[in-house]
Amino acid sequence: MTPVAHHTQSELDDLKAKAPLLVLDGVTKTFPGVKALDDVSFEVRHGEVHALLGENGAGKSTLMKVLAGNHQAERGQVHLEGEAIRVANPLEAKKRGIVLIHQELSLVPEMTVAENIFLGSLPTTALGIVNWRTLFDRAGRILDQLGCRFAASDKVDRLSIANRQMVEIARALVFTPKVVVFDEPTASLTDAEKVVLFDIIERLKEQDVGIVYISHRMDEIFRLSDRITVLRDGQVSGTLKTAETTEDEVTRLMIGRSLEGRPAAAPGAIGEVALELKGLSCGDLFRDVSFSLRRGEVVGMYGLIGAGRTEIAETIFGLRTPDAGEIRVHGEVVQIASPPDAIRHGIALAPESRKEQGLVLGMSCRDNMSLAQLEGVSATGWLDRGAEQAIYDEYAERLALKSPSWRTPVVNLSGGNQQKVVLGKWLSTRPEILIVDEPTRGIDVGSKSEIHALIRRLAASGIAVLVISSEMPEVLGVSDRILALYHGRLAAEFDAASVTEDALVQAISGM
Ligand SMILES: Nc1ncnc2c1ncn2[C@@H]1O[C@H](COP(=O)(O)OP(=O)(O)OP(=O)(O)O)[C@@H](O)[C@H]1O
Ligand SMILES: [Mg+2]
Repeated sequence: MTPVAHHTQSELDDLKAKAPLLVLDGVTKTFPGVKALDDVSFEVRHGEVHALLGENGAGKSTLMKVLAGNHQAERGQVHLEGEAIRVANPLEAKKRGIVLIHQELSLVPEMTVAENIFLGSLPTTALGIVNWRTLFDRAGRILDQLGCRFAASDKVDRLSIANRQMVEIARALVFTPKVVVFDEPTASLTDAEKVVLFDIIERLKEQDVGIVYISHRMDEIFRLSDRITVLRDGQVSGTLKTAETTEDEVTRLMIGRSLEGRPAAAPGAIGEVALELKGLSCGDLFRDVSFSLRRGEVVGMYGLIGAGRTEIAETIFGLRTPDAGEIRVHGEVVQIASPPDAIRHGIALAPESRKEQGLVLGMSCRDNMSLAQLEGVSATGWLDRGAEQAIYDEYAERLALKSPSWRTPVVNLSGGNQQKVVLGKWLSTRPEILIVDEPTRGIDVGSKSEIHALIRRLAASGIAVLVISSEMPEVLGVSDRILALYHGRLAAEFDAASVTEDALVQAISGM
């Protein structure tokens, strides 16, 4: 075919689809002690899902916060539909059609869902007062569109984390967006909610919206994205077409090496029973749960979000009171009325929600790590600074924590590195029984396998470990035994070496 001056409509559509919707050019951003972004260029086309990938602390969230006006870059430019723009703050970005759905939730818990959705743009009457009827109607319609089962008039503090995430998404849809950035949107969503989210992304794509999708989950990235850009230490290490690459290639761009397979299960060394539950029940949350956990053993607790796994862990740790059954530690029946009781019995729980339960965000990394020690040994009162520093140094190294210094407030760490501080905090109590709830949520694939290996090493040193997870590769990779939970009951118990994926799926879905 010879080139001609005229284009057919479909060719024009094609050209439009290929012209970049958004271009970030040479963006550089420094924080005290860290060059978070170093000359980063990145583009998004109309109707494209562009995945952004990289290790914890690589600069993904920072790049998107520059785009959305949360941060100002020292150098670099942003072009939207060919026009150079400057965004001074998030509201300006939204008005231009750029919406960022944050990794850490930013809702006002005391307000209703509807108020949160329309925050900053509440519909008002002629008299300038909030028009509640319109507010609830419009919010209700958006919630319906998203398939949410809670009401616009519900208070946000009564919603689960997953539902709060849906409110964040609802909030983005109020503005007619041109570019929507999802920063680890599925970290706390159930499978059903993920399906809804993926549908929303499909619909946005059809409307020519450009989407940036940040996640550590390779399966999602390969399912959703058209292209992948990998960031490494604040620089772009490559942009690839998803259809033409592999997980292995992407991983190598991310961490500079391939991943080894499944960590070897520690052989032998399984000792006496450290923790035993007998007929433990707690209201509607879980019923008649019995199992034991031995020294040197890793037991995986697998089930869907909402199956009662976290509640069982919280009961063992003294955060909930059981209404029937008993807990034995080293063979003795114990009463655990509070977390300090649990810590005195050698039990530690690294919780799933780091922001609400795990960390004091304004405090330094080092002080956060020694917090659990203070909670446990309050009788002896103070911990000396030297010991604190030694704990920090040891666990920062073991967990490959990426932080400019021990002084850095936790709020300034990347999401995955905050999770590592939570783990360090509990590991450093040197527990005999360690419960970790979703230990690698938000953790990059490289650190994930390091954390799995660390869990195996902890078990090999004689600790009894209970790993709660909704990721099958995680429970399969790290456990000796697997407990499957369905609707608050133990549905089955498996030997991890011989169980099949099908058997696990059936057990947790009540088949
Ligand atoms: N407000 C801040 N003040 C100081 N340093 C910051 C701030 N925000 C981020 N950083 C630092 O910038 C670097 C990049 O962080 P960023 O949050 O962009 O990482 P990320 O790629 O999103 O990681 P993750 O996968 O863990 O979410 C990190 O070293 C982080 O500690
Ligand atoms: Mg991030």
